Amino acid sequence: MALHIVILAAGQGKRMRSALPKVLQPLGDRPLLRHVVETAQALAPERIHVVYGHGGDIVQERLSDLDVAWVRQAEQLGTGHAVAQAMAGIPAEAQVLVLYGDVPLVRPNTLSHLVAAAGHDALALLTVVLANPTGYGRIVRDDDNRVTRIVEERDATREERHIAETNTGLLCAQAHHLHDWLARLTNANVQGEYYLTDCIGLAAYDGVAIAAGQAASESETQGINNKLDLSRAERLFQRRQAEALMASGLTLRDPARFDLRGTLAVGQDVEIDVDVVIEGRVVIGDNVRVGSCCVLRDCEIDSDTRIESHTVIDSAHIGEHCAIGPFARLRPGTRLADRAKVGNFVETKNVEVGAGSKINHLSYVGDTRMGQDVNIGAGVITCNYDGAAKHRTTIGDQAFIGSDVQLVAPVTVGANATVGAGTTVTRDAPADTLTVGRARQTTVEGWRRPTKNARAE
Ligand code: UD1
Ligand code: CA
Repeated sequence: MALHIVILAAGQGKRMRSALPKVLQPLGDRPLLRHVVETAQALAPERIHVVYGHGGDIVQERLSDLDVAWVRQAEQLGTGHAVAQAMAGIPAEAQVLVLYGDVPLVRPNTLSHLVAAAGHDALALLTVVLANPTGYGRIVRDDDNRVTRIVEERDATREERHIAETNTGLLCAQAHHLHDWLARLTNANVQGEYYLTDCIGLAAYDGVAIAAGQAASESETQGINNKLDLSRAERLFQRRQAEALMASGLTLRDPARFDLRGTLAVGQDVEIDVDVVIEGRVVIGDNVRVGSCCVLRDCEIDSDTRIESHTVIDSAHIGEHCAIGPFARLRPGTRLADRAKVGNFVETKNVEVGAGSKINHLSYVGDTRMGQDVNIGAGVITCNYDGAAKHRTTIGDQAFIGSDVQLVAPVTVGANATVGAGTTVTRDAPADTLTVGRARQTTVEGWRRPTKNARAE
């Protein structure tokens, strides 16, 4: 039996109080809807149909890479109406699984069980017993404990509101049944909407078996309506990722203070201290230690390297046995060969640093190619920008650049050259020589420092 998955994502999500449609709100830096689509894909369905409406263009634009059928619901007339829009593209003999674009944490395994429970002829529902069921549809059962219908909170009697078993909204049924039920829906209810949940009453009336199963955990089926829900979902999502990484051997000093907004691949015996944020695609080799409060984005860090606290690395490659930080900022295009060192308050951008080279203190190095075993003193600055264009600096192997040197690019420092402290280098410094350019120091004998006149004060 072919499986078709319908994802309802047409609602505005007013309670988000955001210009961004709800299903584009980020969870781990990816839109909610993307999470749901990826979960749906894990079931290998015949087709995924996304019902969109509010803010439709931007939803499609931002998720244009997804292999889904986009179904427009021009007016949000209810969840039943929303599913009905997708039914035209679904053959009668298929199975239909309905998911919500704002329920992003449901696991593929839970959905597989739901699909299996629906089998060839039943209607399967995912329910959850809540200590506080306020706001949700309630599952009404008869004396034999069979589900007879779902009643929405606003349509429920006082007794019905005491029912703790609620509707998660996720269900699975045969397409031909749904076709039939959806056509029979009315909007004669408090909200004047076509409720998908009314299909349950119709199924019971038709004598179709109803299988109501509970989700493994309450958190899986939590819907997201506001920023508080979103923050809770983020923590749950982060916890899941942290647990999966720890299961693969990563040491996290505190999994509650770790955020992965992308993908992280780690080797053996990697340790990450608290409050580290990982973004994009990050790959870390063996025996790497990352200090507290670092941000690592789209970078590769090879084995045995140490990243000390408060370091920010963006679009860079770090070799083996390197030492970075604390308080270093490696910007895009930074490439460090093995055993390189970048110390505190150093900014690099578009730089190649050769093996064993050091930039230890308070420097800006940009658009530069550095050889091996180069030593860059404290406060060295490459003046790579003249206000219009960027220029390159080249530094040969074993060069020694003294403290407080400005390298005015384009400029080349030859191999094994020494540049004296305080020099402003405007012409090439030849290999194996000393280049110094600074005002000669004089000492004035008998000079007196001015003193303040006590009476004038
Ligand atoms: C729905 C269920 C309720 C359940 C709850 C779980 C109905 C009638 N009620 O209520 O039993 O306990 O979810 O969270 O189904 N949507 C559309 N088009 C529409 C209306 C809604 O695409 O015309 C989408 C929304 O974007 C959302 C989902 O359907 O993703 C649920 O809609 P929402 O209005 O939030 O339903 P609830 O009132 O929460
Ligand atoms: Ca909802």
